[in-house]
Amino acid sequence: MKLFIDTADIEEIRTVATWGVLDGVTTNPTLYARIGGASYDEVLAEITRITSGPVSAEVIAEDVEGMLREGRHFAKIADNIVVKVPMSETGLQAIARFKAEGIRTNCTLIFSANQGLLAAKAGASLLSPFVGRLDDINEDGLIVIRELVSIVEIHELETEVLAASIRHPRHVTESALAGAHVATLPFKVFQQMVRHPLTDQGIVQFRADWEKARAALATGKGG
Ligand code: E4P
Repeated sequence: MKLFIDTADIEEIRTVATWGVLDGVTTNPTLYARIGGASYDEVLAEITRITSGPVSAEVIAEDVEGMLREGRHFAKIADNIVVKVPMSETGLQAIARFKAEGIRTNCTLIFSANQGLLAAKAGASLLSPFVGRLDDINEDGLIVIRELVSIVEIHELETEVLAASIRHPRHVTESALAGAHVATLPFKVFQQMVRHPLTDQGIVQFRADWEKARAALATGKGG
């Protein structure tokens, strides 16, 4: 399973890249608005210098020609840019046109398996069902992941299911078990996945025992 980081924060991306676990990056207008200080193009260019994996850049336009204009512009920034297009009738048209032009797309704001099926047929290379936002309205976001993964596998569709809107480590485990090809995680969830209280306790204990053994050796009481 591939792990992407869901952020526009360069330092967060650099940190996870150093861990050797980073397969790509997803951004959206909200994530970009959080950082400020540089243009979206500059941020995207910097991210593509850090990772050779797919980097999703989201269009803002709601009409097909506008989406195509923005997407073609993003695609020129680097070879690993993937144009993120929201699910809609115009979004599907844009995805089909991008596919014909050889530009990869990530269909975003997917909340049902049927939306994902349509995006796959239109030619999206990534399908992004939003797990957390469905959970927020008292639905089970993981059901969409499971259904969409099954549909993609049964019909051998040439696309990948990317579990998005991940809120906590359990979402990652469940998405992996459901067969999601990718999950995109906030930096905080990466950090939460690293930590376990028994790991922290074990490190402290091993250090204490090591110091005790060395001290005993130094005073001639060691075995
Ligand atoms: C990523 O592609 C999505 O835009 C993102 O995961 C949405 O997450 P949120 O629901 O926490 O805003």
